Amino acid sequence: MDQMPDTDLDGNAPSRVTHLLREADSRIWEHLEQHRGDGLGFIPSDFQLVNAALERIVEEHLARGHLFCEWGSGFGVVSMLASLLGFDAYGIEIQSDLVLAAEDLAAYTRCDVRFAHGSFVTSCDEDLIATAKRSWWRSTESSAYEEFDLEPEEFDLFFGYPWPGEEDLFDALFVRYASVGALLLTFHETFGVLVQRKTCTSGPPAVIGWY
Ligand SMILES: C[S@@+](CC[C@H](N)C(=O)[O-])C[C@H]1O[C@@H](n2cnc3c(N)ncnc32)[C@H](O)[C@@H]1O
Repeated sequence: MDQMPDTDLDGNAPSRVTHLLREADSRIWEHLEQHRGDGLGFIPSDFQLVNAALERIVEEHLARGHLFCEWGSGFGVVSMLASLLGFDAYGIEIQSDLVLAAEDLAAYTRCDVRFAHGSFVTSCDEDLIATAKRSWWRSTESSAYEEFDLEPEEFDLFFGYPWPGEEDLFDALFVRYASVGALLLTFHETFGVLVQRKTCTSGPPAVIGWY
């Protein structure tokens, strides 16, 4: 638990981000090897790319506040990167072993993040799920926000990694639950990180750009 990070070639300690990403890579690789073909839907996003997008959001003062929520947090790495940038970060994940893995990685890298085991979609969202071309989403009766004692509309920034065909579903969920002014970041394998903002109570979010 308390191991010191290795030094780089010049004898310098790696930054906290480098240390986190190095440790995450090795743990995720091992996890994927052990769970090859189980079809449970965990694939890590490109953390360097997502971190660069988060850094730009901070530099450009795009977020109206500090509350960050990762939908389907997997190993929780994006939530941890957000916490290192000063966000109060929360992750929701439906697979309990991944929640434990994320909590362990956060403790090891001393990232202050809270994870909830549960779903960010409830049975009330079945109408949205039914419209998806293809979806891995699983819903539960109650939402995981209750564990945080926060309402979804309190979050300033959401992050998600939609599977191909789920993009509109993420947008629709964001429009349903976020408050006006909140940001939605989504990772897309081919194009990078899309940043959008909710600008009105209904209607699609406004595209800010690809980061
Ligand atoms: C494509 S992976 C992305 C993981 C992580 N966000 C990242 O960027 O590395 C999607 C994750 O969402 C989780 N998931 C799927 N449906 C969910 C739901 N309804 N509620 C919470 N997590 C869910 C999966 O178990 C998986 O870990």
